[in-house]
Amino acid sequence: MPIDLFNMLTKDMQLDPQVFLNQIVIVTGAGRGIGFHTSRAFALLGAKVVLAELSAEGKTAEEAIRREGGTALFIQTDVSDLDSVTQLLEQTHQAYGAVDILVNNAIFIHQVNVKDMSTEIWDRTMAVNLRGTFLTSRACLPDLLRKNQGLILNMISTDAMPGLSAYIASKQAITGFSQSLALELEGTGVRVIPFGPGMVDTPGIRSVAGGLAPQLGLTESEFLNLSLHADYQGLMPPEHAAAAAVYLATCLAEEFHGQVINGYEVLERVGFLKASDVTLPEMNDREINSNETTRTLVTKLLQILEETEAEFQKLPVFVRPMAKGGFKNKAGRSLADWQRLASSLGSGAASIPANMGELLEKLATYYREAPTETARFTRDEATLKMVTETAQARLAIIQSLVLAIDR
Ligand SMILES: NC(=O)c1ccc[n+]([C@@H]2O[C@H](COP(=O)([O-])OP(=O)(O)OC[C@H]3O[C@@H](n4cnc5c(N)ncnc54)[C@H](O)[C@@H]3O)[C@@H](O)[C@H]2O)c1
Repeated sequence: MPIDLFNMLTKDMQLDPQVFLNQIVIVTGAGRGIGFHTSRAFALLGAKVVLAELSAEGKTAEEAIRREGGTALFIQTDVSDLDSVTQLLEQTHQAYGAVDILVNNAIFIHQVNVKDMSTEIWDRTMAVNLRGTFLTSRACLPDLLRKNQGLILNMISTDAMPGLSAYIASKQAITGFSQSLALELEGTGVRVIPFGPGMVDTPGIRSVAGGLAPQLGLTESEFLNLSLHADYQGLMPPEHAAAAAVYLATCLAEEFHGQVINGYEVLERVGFLKASDVTLPEMNDREINSNETTRTLVTKLLQILEETEAEFQKLPVFVRPMAKGGFKNKAGRSLADWQRLASSLGSGAASIPANMGELLEKLATYYREAPTETARFTRDEATLKMVTETAQARLAIIQSLVLAIDR
């Protein structure tokens, strides 16, 4: 049965049908697959969408979106070519105005092992995927920076695959590019999100399935029926990946800047898929100690914050600002601000603010989500167990403090 994308967006995901009203969105590689459905999703929610596509399929895509009542314009573009990208921006400005959102989605993908790969295949992959992402991002940045807001959503792939070394290398490079750009744009209001849509049923993935499957010890049909999430029997429909991309662009964008997120996680966050991640066990009364005094608990809170600071210091230097940014988003204030508050409470220099319970709830959110966050970066069971237990112990202290303040 065909998927009703508008229904999914507005009913299942509760998005306002005009959430992107008059926003100008460029989607590269919009002629088919995830790019096409992502363009549809933006247009269904009110955006004016530019389909920056190399092939004539861009025209068919434009017509399909217009038939659904959306506003779309196909501008034939080769993202690897500087003149073509310059023209893309000129024509976008003439037709609609300054860009609000750029989705770097276009790819060149060709399955061949390194020993047989021609230099041309390597170069073309890097030119479309990596150089293209750089050229379009650079071209859109003046618009975004002038508005002090906006988003660059870069499609990535994370997992190594035989025969796709050039493609995967280009995609992992896009993650690094996105994270570095995110650091450059810190404080500007412009966000950059590297987004892995998931294993999605598209012409692109089907074009490599036949060659890839045997290298993974699978038949083509087994490969196409691989399930990376308990809620999917086989690949994710492209409409779902598109819905995840637009949900991320509107509801979660404030939370992400440089951090990698994937389509399954977004769809879990919105409740469309069942969460399958690490969860914290329920805490019992013994773990939440209501007998400890506020002063002791504040000292323990300070210790937790110091440990968290030390954990951040152990991260690679480039990852640290992102981890700290993630902390601030979830915990409501920066780690340094939390440390200042806890130490002035501990020394008696300040009295407990009236909204302390609320503040602590936010801090608890950070630690509650720590195991799930960690599960995005590692599958190592010992690490996940350790993070889960630490988070549990820290939450118990924070919740005891909430109780102590209430008394
Ligand atoms: N399909 C998946 O399972 C999957 C998994 C992880 C990441 N992704 C990412 O999602 C994005 C979309 O993937 P897909 O599977 O829908 O791809 P696809 O191959 O089906 O579509 C790619 C589109 O890009 C266009 N294109 C190619 N070269 C171009 C150029 N030089 N300029 C402009 N357009 C060009 C193609 O004509 C095509 O319409 C990609 O960035 C991919 O890396 C996909």
